[in-house]
This record gives sequence, C-alpha cells and structure tokens, in this order.
Amino acid sequence: MTVVGPFGLSVRDQALEADVKAGLAAVEEGLVEATKSGVPFITEAAQHLVRAGGKRFRPLLVMLASQFGDPYAPGVVPSAVVVELTHLATLYHDDVMDEAEVRRGVPSANVRWGNSVAVLTGDFLFAQASHILADLGPEAVRIQAEAFERLVTGQILETAGPQEGDDPVTHYLDVIAGKTGSLIAVAGRLGATMAGADEGVVDVLTQYGERIGTAFQLADDVLDIASDSHESGKTPGTDLREGIATLPVLHLRARAARDGAPEDLALCALLDGDLTDDARHAEALAGLRAHPALEEARRDTVRYADEARRLLAPLPDCAAKEALSSLCDSVVHRAG
Ligand code: IPE
Ligand code: IPE
Ligand code: MG
Ligand code: MG
Repeated sequence: MTVVGPFGLSVRDQALEADVKAGLAAVEEGLVEATKSGVPFITEAAQHLVRAGGKRFRPLLVMLASQFGDPYAPGVVPSAVVVELTHLATLYHDDVMDEAEVRRGVPSANVRWGNSVAVLTGDFLFAQASHILADLGPEAVRIQAEAFERLVTGQILETAGPQEGDDPVTHYLDVIAGKTGSLIAVAGRLGATMAGADEGVVDVLTQYGERIGTAFQLADDVLDIASDSHESGKTPGTDLREGIATLPVLHLRARAARDGAPEDLALCALLDGDLTDDARHAEALAGLRAHPALEEARRDTVRYADEARRLLAPLPDCAAKEALSSLCDSVVHRAG
C-alpha cells in the first residue's frame, strides 16, 4: 500500500500508483503554468492558494476515472487542471461570501488583498480554465458550463435560504449537490470521457462523482463543526458564524421541534442569535460538538458515501475501481 497525492489515498496496485502519481505531478505543473499572468501581482494572487496546497481531490478523481480508458490520452491532465482551477476560483469567491479569513492554512485572498482583488482573481482563474477547456472541444465546454451553472445556483440558493413551504433538509441537499456534487461529477465525467471510456462507464463515473461529491460536502459541513483549524486549514464554525444551517444544525432543529428538550431549545435559540459574538459562537460550537445531531449527520455522510460505492458495481473489476471504492471511506473519515 502506498499513499498517493495530498488527499492521502492508499493504492495497492503499482501500475495504478505510478499513473496517478505521474498524472498529479503533471497537473501541478499545469496549475502553476495556468496561473501565470503578464502582471506579476496577478500571478502572485492567483498562485497564492495553488502553492498553499489543498487536497487535489478533484484531479485525483479525474486520474482514477481515466483508468477506464487510456489514462495517457492528451485530454486527461488538462481536464484535471480545468476542474481544479474552477474549484480554486470558487474558493476565492466563496471566502469573500463567507468572510473567511483562513484557507488551506494561509490567510485567504480577501484578507490579504481585499474583496475586490479576491473576486477578480477568481475571475482570472475562470478565464484561464476556459482557455484550456476550449482546446478540449465543445462537448467539454458544455459539460463544464452546465456544472458551473448548477454550482452557482447552489451557492445562490444557499445564500437565499429555504423559501416558505420548502423542506429545509431537501433545500440543503439540493444546495450541496449543486454547489459541490456538480463539479466533482465533472471530474469523474471528464476523466472518463477524455480517456475514451465507453458511454456506460462515463455515466457511472458521473453519477458516482455526484454522490461522492455530495458526501464530500456533508463531511466538510461536519468538519466545520468538529475539526480544528490545524487539520482543516480553515476556521472552525464558519458556517455557524455566517448563519448557514448545515445538516447537524437541521437535525438539531428537527429534534428540538419533535422532543422539545429544554437544552436543545436553548441551543437552537443560541444558534438563531448573533454568532458574530466570540463567546456565543464558542458556546454554540461546543454545544453542537457534544450533540447527538452531529453524530446523526456523520451517519448520513456514511450513507451517501456507501451509495456512491454501490454505484460502482457495473464497472469492470480493476485496481482503479478498488481505489474509487476506498475513496468513499477516505471521504467520510478524513480529518481535513
Ligand atoms: C472545499 O473543497 C470546498 C468544498 C466544496 C467542501 P476542498 O475540501 O476540496 O478544498 P481543498 O481543495 O482541499 O483546499
Ligand atoms: C463552498 O462550501 C463550496 C464551494 C466553494 C462551491 P463551503 O463554504 O462549505 O466550503 P468551505 O468550507 O469554505 O471550504
Ligand atoms: Mg466557505
Ligand atoms: Mg465548509
């Protein structure tokens, strides 16, 4: 067993390990190349988060999906670069929206240079992704455009919150499938498509990406409460501070409405109040960390990851399928 890539996936098969390592190394080069500008300051801002690291989960998925065709096909590495650049751009924008101060263990771009530069750097990254995408052909452009529309729609729906009559959990699940599942589905789809895999295989890997992507965001939302910043490279409790009700909070509210336990009602009231106050924020975070609603959300995460694994059934047995299956466990059990 060797661990490949910053996500820390254990791979048993040596040929697969070599392919994934080589692919990810080429993606790193592609990212550095694509974030260069004629204006040194733009290069600095665009490379700020590239150099800070990150798990490179989406490029990893592109590489694994490409194993179901020709992993050395010329479109595989560029498509991974496109997906990671798009992800990166959304992080620059997301940190502005969430007023996040730390990302990948370094100050966020909005903290270093202000909101305008952070937003424009995100736009620059989208532009660079589009350049590369254009060479991959109109089908790839369409796939990316559709996913991007879903991603942005998810972010907007999250900001708007559930409307009158909406079920909050359904709204939440729609939001996370849109903002995160969509792009991770593209990673599976483009990896397989660029490698020339069969249409049926492409469909399986697209659906798998969507499911594991949703599990990935569920895990992220649990980690926002449960992890510390050393592990996540982000500030814990950012969702709470921003008033974004993620699944643990929704489970808590459902329990409070159902059972009416005074301590649950008190925690709900705390969460509904002003959490920009540090003491109240710390109390809310501690309350949720100790609450069974967090465990309930963890179980849901495992369920989504298991569903993703089951979707792999039609694929031919091979080392890449095994790796995709173990990715379902890694997503759930990751610490950051
Ligand atoms: C963070 O994504 C935003 C989500 C969709 C949860 P990642 O957790 O993949 O962030 P990096 O790329 O590793 O920094
Ligand atoms: C953001 O979700 C997802 C996208 C960037 C599309 P989060 O707001 O939960 O991501 P983090 O926690 O800041 O990474
Ligand atoms: Mg955020
Ligand atoms: Mg988060």
